[in-house]
Amino acid sequence: MQGQRIDVVSVKPYPVFLGARLEELGDYLTTRIGAGEHLLVITHPNVGDYYLDTLQKGLGSFMVNTLIVPQGEDEKSLDRLSDLTSEAIACGADRKTVVLALGGGVIGDLAGFFASVFMRGMRYVQIPTTLLAMVDSSIGGKVAVNHAAGKNLLGDFYPPLAVWTDFSTLETLPWEEMLNGLAETIKHAVIADEELLSFIEKHQEEIMARKPELYKELSSRSSAVKVRLVSEDETEQGKRMFLNYGHSFGHALEAEVAYQGITHGQGVSIGMVAAAHLAQERGLMSSGEVERLIKLLKGFGLPVTVRAKNPRVLTDLMGADKKNYKGQKVLVLPKGIGQGIVIRDANDEEILRAWDKVIE
Ligand code: NAD
Ligand code: GLY
Repeated sequence: MQGQRIDVVSVKPYPVFLGARLEELGDYLTTRIGAGEHLLVITHPNVGDYYLDTLQKGLGSFMVNTLIVPQGEDEKSLDRLSDLTSEAIACGADRKTVVLALGGGVIGDLAGFFASVFMRGMRYVQIPTTLLAMVDSSIGGKVAVNHAAGKNLLGDFYPPLAVWTDFSTLETLPWEEMLNGLAETIKHAVIADEELLSFIEKHQEEIMARKPELYKELSSRSSAVKVRLVSEDETEQGKRMFLNYGHSFGHALEAEVAYQGITHGQGVSIGMVAAAHLAQERGLMSSGEVERLIKLLKGFGLPVTVRAKNPRVLTDLMGADKKNYKGQKVLVLPKGIGQGIVIRDANDEEILRAWDKVIE
């Protein structure tokens, strides 16, 4: 295989293959689990139309069934989990079946959680096809479904057998979805890798022109940040929390409009800027560093401000964040460019001032 392999340190270590080819996954699985095993591909209709044939070219020596899940965040649900269970039973799945999660973060989280609970657990492979899934959700073993009371409320840390990333799948990804991944990539750079930030700045035009070579490099560097953080802290007791940078503010923006009308990437973009302003007020960032971040985000067409919002309502919504502890808001701030810090003593007044900086 051409490309790169990075190993994740975990209770169950696993490799992340970057620049792999869909049609070569079968060869890898033959060496890993042996030929003839039962595989259950879980994917969306559109992703399946684009990539199932290519994937299946390499799976001739396996027994393969495919389960199609409609698109959308709503499908990360207990109802869909129940449907998958019935369909898997009808296909003869058992504990030795291996799930192949072919899609973005929705498929990865749903199929991964399904793998974690079906017959008390079966193996699964993450095959990410969005930039967000490649650099973020496929790595780290977090799997989940949503509940009426909150997103990702029912889940687990359940490491995959492997992550198999074929960058060529990005060719069909709509630009809006690419932006969601770019926001997470910029987040990785700000909290953990200044060189990555410089790389993105230097190649912004080529990234926007969707040059495939650039995406290989960008995605590989961003994935490496995620691998490093989850390898150091798989269960999110410390450094993995840095990955929440921009998300406490961003989730409040998304929740306020019930996840309609703002994308995750847009929420994270504004959230990173709000947190950067708070960091500047605390002397953790210079005004030049905050401006550097704003310029980069704007250059991609990501929003850095939001119109007509009530900062008090948004601050209250931040109180529901899963990362909070004993009623205290827990926030991640950048420390300059390239480092993060978790703060547990943020007061509502400084959070309100940060909102004021991003509300027009
Ligand atoms: P997504 O999975 O909904 O995919 C976005 C859209 O792109 C979908 O309509 C999908 O069908 C389509 N698509 C996927 N691949 C494509 C391709 N190659 N070509 C064309 N279309 C394609 O969205 P996402 O942004 O990938 O993932 C978001 C989800 O990830 C959320 O549910 C979030 O909670 C979760 N997430 C999980 C983690 C984690 O650590 N487990 C981290 C971040 C996000
Ligand atoms: N996306 C946050 C995490 O994986 O921890």
